[in-house]
Amino acid sequence: MKQVIFIFAALTQVAFAQQKTATLNIIPQPVSMEIGKGQFMLTKKTVIAARDEEDRKTARVFNDYLQQAYGFRLDVDRQETKNYIRLTTRKFIQAPEKDAYALTVGKNGVTIEGDTYAGTFSGIQTLIQLLPPVKTQAKSFSIPFVTINDYPRFAYRGMHLDVGRHFFPASYVKRYIDFLALHKMNYFHWHLTEDQGWRIEIKKYPRLTSVGAWRDGTIIGHHPGTGNDNQRYGGFYTQNEVKDVVQYAADRHITVVPEIEMPGHSSAAIAAYPWLSCFPDKETDMGKNPSEASKQKRGKKVQETWGVFEDIFCAGKDSTFLFLQNVMDEVLALFPSKYIHVGGDEAPKSNWQKCPLCQARIKQEGLKNEHELQTYFITRMEKYLNSKGRTLIGWDEILEGGLAPNAVVMSWRGEKGGIEAAKQKHNVIMTPGNPVYFDHAQVKNDDSLTIGGFNPLDAVYNYEPVPKELTAEEGKYVLGSQANLWTEYVGFPAKVEYMVFPRMSALAEVLWSPKEVRNWEDFQKRMATQYQRYDLWKVNYFNKPKAAEIKKKSIM
Ligand code: ACM
Ligand code: ZN
Repeated sequence: MKQVIFIFAALTQVAFAQQKTATLNIIPQPVSMEIGKGQFMLTKKTVIAARDEEDRKTARVFNDYLQQAYGFRLDVDRQETKNYIRLTTRKFIQAPEKDAYALTVGKNGVTIEGDTYAGTFSGIQTLIQLLPPVKTQAKSFSIPFVTINDYPRFAYRGMHLDVGRHFFPASYVKRYIDFLALHKMNYFHWHLTEDQGWRIEIKKYPRLTSVGAWRDGTIIGHHPGTGNDNQRYGGFYTQNEVKDVVQYAADRHITVVPEIEMPGHSSAAIAAYPWLSCFPDKETDMGKNPSEASKQKRGKKVQETWGVFEDIFCAGKDSTFLFLQNVMDEVLALFPSKYIHVGGDEAPKSNWQKCPLCQARIKQEGLKNEHELQTYFITRMEKYLNSKGRTLIGWDEILEGGLAPNAVVMSWRGEKGGIEAAKQKHNVIMTPGNPVYFDHAQVKNDDSLTIGGFNPLDAVYNYEPVPKELTAEEGKYVLGSQANLWTEYVGFPAKVEYMVFPRMSALAEVLWSPKEVRNWEDFQKRMATQYQRYDLWKVNYFNKPKAAEIKKKSIM
């Protein structure tokens, strides 16, 4: 048996001999990397040595990866000196660079030392990229001697997923979280409520999901549609599923930021509880192509078409705020995240202009107009969240009537809102439609239906999250960036991956790697290996034929 292992080892050494001189194709590119001469042979006998319970958790995540990708796991022990992957977290270090790690490959094994548990976890993600990018029967993997010192450029490295327009089961959300981890992303923005569906169980308000999670149909094709599919559609996450997803993410050092939309994008909540509207008796406008079932129903309904809707939460009633605080109480119990997103975007003020209660509120609070009423709305929710020790995030519309005092702004209508907020000394997360809206096409004349727009890979790669309009001091308010995946035209997991890949790999490098090491030519070369990894991960990425060509070229 020993002999067999030896022969396999010899064969793989030949197979991976090229790696000795080749550069390592790591994405995102580490801060510094020094390749030595020689290699460590990782075998099934290699032991993961970790003493700390948190590091042992990371070892389990690594083992899950090995199992999925290659079909084996490694033993985990407290100590091992001959053939090891050693994980240690130097909690005593007061490092200037947050979440740094050092990875060293030597004769007897791999050592990963993180300044934090998240740092050690990132080191494991780098180690994953030192393993073969293809499924292999080899009994051992050769890993070149290397010393890597690495840390992230931005503290907020995010990906968003809209589960309102289309619903993705918790099992798929976990796979999405796996992709974030593999890209050293650390925030998952879970867009949980929309006009077309409310997706999170709230025990105090069961109709939010018994009514609000279901629509009677969906428009066909581009808005306003060529018809309606008349298929009842929906779904929601139970609180147990939410807890499970949040824990799964936490085990991967990813914070889940929930978004509960207000005051707009609230048709589903209003369908469940019509008194949340300024005009509870007014029938919902279902657009040009309502389903047959919704034509038969009167009153408030869950939306079946896309867009921006006038029926929003009434800002004049205290019962609206009581409802939202009660919802938040359950949300806060599920999500430990410091940041809680309350939306705030695309809230037409037409109902507020006509509503006696909203107008009375404006008068009573001495507000100038409906924009200031929106500020009142968001500020009132912010006070509540702050009293519970949380920080509010809102889309850049929350700037319009004046910012709530401690709010973080997510800049989506370009960078203008983000620049303005940073100048006002507010933290900012940059998510400009161009280039980080991943619902936009990656190629002109895409054969698949998308919302429109054009955000190709190189545009994402060349994105700079700190606008030049900011001084160095102001630039510090930019916490990072995030790509958003709105799902009007993304109905199933394979399409999620088609939209997200390969752009997520480009964004990962924008957010992690120092600006000086970013290089488009070099990134494209490394992408050849990344495309192999996508195949290993069974990802349905965009432009497979082109990727095959790139892979072939890089091997020749
Ligand atoms: C947004 O895209 N409405 C934030
Ligand atoms: Zn009102």
